[in-house]
Amino acid sequence: MKKTLIVIACMLFLLSNGLLAQNKYVGAKNCKMCHMAKGKQYPTWSESKHAKAFETLKGPEALKIAKEKGIADPSTDEKCLKCHSTVASIDAKLNGGITKEEGVSCETCHGAGSAYKAPAVMRNHDACVTNGLIIPDEKLCLKCHNSGSPTFKGFDFATYSAKITHKNPK
Ligand code: HEC
Ligand code: HEC
Ligand code: HEC
Ligand code: HEC
Repeated sequence: MKKTLIVIACMLFLLSNGLLAQNKYVGAKNCKMCHMAKGKQYPTWSESKHAKAFETLKGPEALKIAKEKGIADPSTDEKCLKCHSTVASIDAKLNGGITKEEGVSCETCHGAGSAYKAPAVMRNHDACVTNGLIIPDEKLCLKCHNSGSPTFKGFDFATYSAKITHKNPK
């Protein structure tokens, strides 16, 4: 009996630690303060189509596309949201402040930020990666930029990357 209790206690401990270790999506407002000047990552993103991807689903063009597919409201339907808003594709338990309105946000591409956003971690590339930071490549873009998009116009990584680039100046 005592042994069983110890085993259960150990399992609960491991389980809760495992859950705690899961990074949460904190939202672009938690990246903004540090990524305004050098490289202008926040301003570049907030003016990009990615930041407006959710808003697009409320527009007339989206409604027209949705109607043809028998979808009443594209801004609430998983079939459209899955590529137009990060929130729709994450486990609700991992939402640490990201909103649906952010559309395709920093953490869609760079991974959930709760653990890597600490300043000491951010300055150390290896620590960033250990704490869940993703440096995205073409494979990530192709998750959404593919023929599953009703308005797909093709995707060329070099051209499209140049349009959204927000690297630090050398
Ligand atoms: C407390 C300030 C701070 C916050 C908050 C912060 N960052 Fe950073 N981040 C930095 C610093 C400093 C660097 C080091 C390089 C630089 O100066 O841009 C960095 C580097 C990065 C890098 C490049 C890392 C590498 O090693 O290649 C990415 C990507 C990044 N941040 C994304 C984010 C995202 C996404 C968020 C929000 C979830 C975020 N950061 C929040 C300060 C911050
Ligand atoms: C989670 C899905 C998703 C991922 C991942 C993604 N995108 Fe996008 N992207 C979109 C959506 C949705 C739009 C259209 C937004 C709108 O117009 O409202 C878009 C639009 C764009 C546009 C603007 C196209 C135009 O017509 O002007 C560029 C450029 C772009 N993405 C580049 C990239 C690159 C490069 C990557 C990978 C580093 C990437 N995207 C990853 C969903 C995604
Ligand atoms: C597989 C991912 C994906 C899905 C699913 C998706 N979209 Fe998009 N959407 C995109 C991308 C990527 C773009 C940028 C244009 C492109 O396809 O190259 C975009 C652009 C748009 C645009 C802007 C028009 C334009 O030409 O740029 C509208 C409107 C739109 N989507 C509506 C919808 C609606 C409505 C649905 C649901 C029926 C939907 N999307 C489902 C990925 C997707
Ligand atoms: C559509 C995907 C996408 C989104 C959204 C996105 N990034 Fe990036 N980010 C990238 C790619 C791709 C790179 C370049 C990776 C490389 O160096 O090859 C990058 C690079 C960076 C770097 C490294 C700059 C350097 O030169 O060291 C920082 C910092 C960064 N992003 C922060 C952000 C922040 C903050 C946001 C939101 C405000 C954001 N990113 C939104 C895809 C994205």
